[in-house]
Amino acid sequence: PNLQYITVEKKGEQQNIGLITLNRPKALNALCNALMKEVSETMDDLEADDSIGAIILTGSGKAFAAGADIKEMKDQNFAHVFRSNFLAHWDRIAYACKPVIAAVNGYALGGGCELAMMCDIIYASETAKFGQPEIILGTIPGAGGTQRLTRIVGKSKAMEMVLTGMQITAEEAEKWGLVSKVIPPDQLLPEAIKLGEKIASLSKLSVAMAKEAVGHAYETTLQEGLKIEKRMFHSTFATDDRREGMTAFVDKRAPKFTDS
Ligand code: HXC
Repeated sequence: PNLQYITVEKKGEQQNIGLITLNRPKALNALCNALMKEVSETMDDLEADDSIGAIILTGSGKAFAAGADIKEMKDQNFAHVFRSNFLAHWDRIAYACKPVIAAVNGYALGGGCELAMMCDIIYASETAKFGQPEIILGTIPGAGGTQRLTRIVGKSKAMEMVLTGMQITAEEAEKWGLVSKVIPPDQLLPEAIKLGEKIASLSKLSVAMAKEAVGHAYETTLQEGLKIEKRMFHSTFATDDRREGMTAFVDKRAPKFTDS
């Protein structure tokens, strides 16, 4: 496909990692509509590609993404954003079946922070910065910044970030549970690929089920979530990969998963 704002590559020893790089460095990867459309369509392609076991989303230059495109939004009015359901196609990543890792290399602000939070795991470069600065622009987060962030870091910290627009460092983000690892800048991508390869070496079926089950923790009550988890656990007993995994353990050999 003809991509203007992002690049797509296959990475890893087995070329089973899909790497999406936001590539609009002059605008600090501001997330214009066309860019988000490319991300969305590329996600469709990578999800349909059986050779891909994990997807990495990263930025370029000094930004992961500095937010939605302010220049594009500046002259919009209520009627238009409402009637066009502005941002409706933004959450493609949140509905991915395959695991998605955000490798946050620099600024992840506004929609950029929200995009990272739609991913399953966030790795951050030591130079990364996170924030929801929408309030400074006279608006509020519109793609999960008031919801996902609050569930991740709790009310007091989310309020502080959303009400002041303050930025936090990678170190703070790790301490608060927003990111799982802080990594020197030159090691960020290699480490993210290594993580992707680890996940991609396992059963795609079990990985998708595990991801879906964890995802329910954010969607439902504890009782309901535990019920869903138990039923999904039971359903792994309908797969060849569950039998193979346990048999391989008992036989003291490496499992050979067939994703079935
Ligand atoms: C459009 C942007 C942009 C953005 C940066 N640029 N962020 N353009 N939308 N979100 C452009 C600048 O206008 C400038 O273009 C170029 O990128 C370089 O940016 P500078 O500001 O010169 O860089 P620097 O001084 O290093 O400052 C970096 C920065 C700052 C702190 C990240 O750019 C900044 O505050 N950006 C805005 C962050 C923000 O408010 N994000 C939230 C957006 S609202 P020119 O043409 O001058 O070279 C949002 C709503 C989400 O995300 C709702 C749901 C999605």
